[in-house]
Amino acid sequence: MDFTKWTAAALRALDPLVWSYFMATADPTESTEHDNDAWQRIEIVPRVLRGVENIDTTATLPACAPLASPLVIAPTAGHGLACEEAELASARAAASTGTLMIYSHSATVGVEEFGAAATSPWWAQAYLLRDPARTRDYLDRAAAAGACAIVLTVDGSVPVGSASFRTTVQARLSAVAGNFPGSTWTEMVATYATGLTVDHISTVAGQTTLPVYAKGVLNPIDAARAVDAGAAGIIVSNHGRRQMGGVVSTAKALPRIVDAVAERVPVIVDGGIRSGLDVFRALALGASAVAVGRPVLWGLAADGAAGVTAVLTTLIEELRQAMAGAGVGRIEQISRDLVRPPSW
Ligand code: FNR
Repeated sequence: MDFTKWTAAALRALDPLVWSYFMATADPTESTEHDNDAWQRIEIVPRVLRGVENIDTTATLPACAPLASPLVIAPTAGHGLACEEAELASARAAASTGTLMIYSHSATVGVEEFGAAATSPWWAQAYLLRDPARTRDYLDRAAAAGACAIVLTVDGSVPVGSASFRTTVQARLSAVAGNFPGSTWTEMVATYATGLTVDHISTVAGQTTLPVYAKGVLNPIDAARAVDAGAAGIIVSNHGRRQMGGVVSTAKALPRIVDAVAERVPVIVDGGIRSGLDVFRALALGASAVAVGRPVLWGLAADGAAGVTAVLTTLIEELRQAMAGAGVGRIEQISRDLVRPPSW
């Protein structure tokens, strides 16, 4: 998908500080182009002569009603910085396109308001907080608000970013912390726990009846440890390159994690997915679903719920075309023999 028009519209609509917050990576010399390049270098090896006429993009994930496609909205903070209606606009777009949305713990609207407005299944992302009672309270609130799963972000424990990056965030985001009433952004980040271990996954899994996905896993050893500790699924993610520079692209990390745990749990991937072809490539490498972060923010900034709907609809249509071109009629037929990754 050519995002030029969307990024240009988002750039026009957004305060420059918000734009730079959305686009930021931990190493300013890197961008998500890096991740997208890795996806694009995976060549597709289509099948022919298979009598494929109808293309069905519908997908299923545990803890989720059937979806129109395996596309997921990744959790991103502060949708209110992109448009007035904030996460409620994203939720409307998710519902109208049959897309699963993961609500961010650092959302602009509180989890109760979000849950009351959402008309399709959604999951709640959680950061582990220093105060265990506060984590537990959020897990309870998310479940009561209607979340179908918890996504525990496990790669957020090392605060990185330049002083100017932090200043940018502080300057613009002090008002958005809907789940942390009365706190500034800096105070909110200070409430995040550090020093996470797999025992925290067991603890969280024991504190909620919802399935707990571990987000931010790049190493197959950790994927296996997280599943052993009770994770119901893995989200392969480098946090949009926001946690550290030099980090492996998720396209390269995905196959080994699939080999390590996909027989036991679903594996979702995000990072640099910018087209239906990229979604197809990720599914071929074994992902059960594929999430997008920044493209949703661009759509939101450009045209609110309609913008997000347009972005998601285009990605799903591109996936449909990729499936038709590659000779597969159903999502579960997208197999690894349909792609040839470079020898990473
Ligand atoms: C994020 N991401 C993120 N992840 C998370 O678990 N909780 C969060 O609150 C946020 N917030 C956030 C804000 C912004 C502005 C960005 C860009 C990203 C990471 C996000 O879930 C996802 O991993 C990446 O955005 C995926 O990469 P792409 O699609 O943006 O390239």
